Amino acid sequence: MKKRILGLVLGFLIIFGQLRADEGMWPLILIQKLQDNMQARGLKLTAEDIYSINKECAKDAVVRLMTKQNRMFCTGEIISEQGLFLTNHHCGYGSIQELSTNEDNILANGFWAKNQSEERKANFNIGLLSRVEDITDRVLDSINITDEEAVRSKALADRLTKLTSKLKDELGADKDNYVVDIVPFFSGNRYLAMYYMVYRDIRLVGTPPENIGKFGGETDNWMWPRHTCDFSMFRIYANGDNKPAEFNASNKPYKPGHYFPINLQGKKPEDFAMIMGYPGRTQRYTYSEGIKYYTTKERPMRVKVRRDILDIYEEFMHTDPKIKLMYADKFAGLSNYWKKYMGESTSLTKLHIYERRKAEEDRFAQWIKDNNKSAKYGEVFDLYNKSYSQLNTYGLYSTYLQDGVSNSQPMVFAMGLSKMEALLKDKTKAEDAKKMAEELSKDLDEQYKEYFDPIEVKVLASVLMHITEDLDHANLPQQLIDLSDKYKKDYTKMATVLYEKSFLTSKEKMAKFLAKPSYKAMQKDMIYVITSNYVNKISVDLKPIYTDINFKLGRANRLFQSGMLEMDPNKLYSPDANGTMRLTYGRILPYDGKDAEHFREFTTAKGILEKYTPGDIEFDAPKKLIDMMKAKDFGRYADKDGDLHACFLTDNDITGGNSGSPVLNAKGELIGTAFDGNWEAIASDFAFEPELQRTICVDIRYTLFIVDKFGGAGNLLKEMKIIE
Ligand code: ARG
Repeated sequence: MKKRILGLVLGFLIIFGQLRADEGMWPLILIQKLQDNMQARGLKLTAEDIYSINKECAKDAVVRLMTKQNRMFCTGEIISEQGLFLTNHHCGYGSIQELSTNEDNILANGFWAKNQSEERKANFNIGLLSRVEDITDRVLDSINITDEEAVRSKALADRLTKLTSKLKDELGADKDNYVVDIVPFFSGNRYLAMYYMVYRDIRLVGTPPENIGKFGGETDNWMWPRHTCDFSMFRIYANGDNKPAEFNASNKPYKPGHYFPINLQGKKPEDFAMIMGYPGRTQRYTYSEGIKYYTTKERPMRVKVRRDILDIYEEFMHTDPKIKLMYADKFAGLSNYWKKYMGESTSLTKLHIYERRKAEEDRFAQWIKDNNKSAKYGEVFDLYNKSYSQLNTYGLYSTYLQDGVSNSQPMVFAMGLSKMEALLKDKTKAEDAKKMAEELSKDLDEQYKEYFDPIEVKVLASVLMHITEDLDHANLPQQLIDLSDKYKKDYTKMATVLYEKSFLTSKEKMAKFLAKPSYKAMQKDMIYVITSNYVNKISVDLKPIYTDINFKLGRANRLFQSGMLEMDPNKLYSPDANGTMRLTYGRILPYDGKDAEHFREFTTAKGILEKYTPGDIEFDAPKKLIDMMKAKDFGRYADKDGDLHACFLTDNDITGGNSGSPVLNAKGELIGTAFDGNWEAIASDFAFEPELQRTICVDIRYTLFIVDKFGGAGNLLKEMKIIE
């Protein structure tokens, strides 16, 4: 068995050449190869202690947070033998908001289950990685890197579908408990299969009040020095066999293969630190013209559209706590990436990423020439240049679908009705249409739960305005252009009228429509018509163009990365993040910002008292916390220096999706939870900056101080293994 694994590891390694650097988000099957380097840096564990498919190991305590549809969104870590796990507050946020009511607002007030029966059903799944397999040869068998793109992509898609179900079938009786993902690495040069056991009964155990868990709000988001206690706690439940089950009161806490002991002893600069988790996506090999496209066009547009919507949310959220609760999760999500995109577009320029990518590409071009490789790689540049030029013309239509249309709820409801329209149009499908309408009516309470007319009408106006004013009319629905002419670009007036007349804009009107669905009613509803025509422009009219762009980009990326690896067989290339488990190792480390600016590697309660602003929407905090901090009442959670350490920095390489990841010391003990990156390295998805890039972590001692001394949930501490 062992030999087989080694063989697979070596196969994957051909692509990596020799490993040297300490940066990078490393796939776990490389861990054997990283062992020496990590141990030289202080690691006291072996590779097998971290990842093994033969014995219980650290990876068994790393949790993949997934929606009910199994889309990954965050990371967590198991910290007790009863399936208790820790993640970020901003990862549990959606669930916590959902469990809050105006009468029992646990988002605002916090929540601590005093015993397991008080824990509350949370609306997400978690996945536990059972193993990883390199199946490149099976995926790419008889498919060649330079095969014609349309043929290749069809063959590949068929192969992936068949292989996925084959791998699943091989799991036998257990197969429905698994998600099997076959994931491309290095833009399709390698393929790994990931096996996750998916648990579906997850319960909220505890969360601090929002003004602790999100202290500093949007102002501090992506920034250091930071004082956010960004954690929440959940528990995994299983059936009598410790296997996944739907929510059921009789389920038992899950018994994990491994859980992390917690170390309260403190740390110092240069101490070894590693993070295991699920980074979502990086684009570190983006072509120079792509950098230009993102910097000058795509990112700035997204920032504009998002900012306008956020302003509308804020106008109402700041004056009404009910609305604040209702839109909290939408606001946080939009705002998080609004700020990141804004930082990226300036930072990419400031750090000269375009020039640096260009220099790499020139070197590649020279290598092709010197080594007669143009038959295989020569087309790369042309493919890239053409696709980015097309993206400059057509790219924003789909960007606005994501950031504009998809943020207007009536427009989202309209998109959900496109199948209904097709059924109604076809007289023979009347029965199907009726059934579909019945199905949809069941869901209305849920759909309109977070819906406030004054916000939605303004968001609609803003989205319609941006689409009409920012995009080339050549590919916009004629009805939209006509309406904007008719209303002389008064989008507020136009949106108000459309909103008023539409059946999409309230639960009652929608229920009435679904009770008697009619094709004619849909055609008369201008929000419906504009939305569906806009979507059709993209998915029908522009489809050949988008397919062409995707083929070109996919091919260029695959060839470029293959060529780079061939050009530098001894250089370390780490594969872009793709939502699979990775490990990054490094140190606890301060950094220097702008001229004369030195940032210490940790923050303390002192900083919380400094930032504390009673009544402020971002910097308020519970009086109880402030009093404890003033009294320096930190108990065993105080550092040797007497203060309570709040957050700290490492030079680990993470990105979105890693949120909630365990930060481990040399012995594999938990010292913190990763939750953010710093502003100076906000463009880190495009380029790693060793001098600048830092991971921001909550100190586990701050977390436990809040659980124990602030929250009074000492019951939970008993489950944990604590090293003092
Ligand atoms: N920047 C953090 C991340 O992407 C998320 C922080 C969420 N907090 C917020 N204020 N929106 O992981």
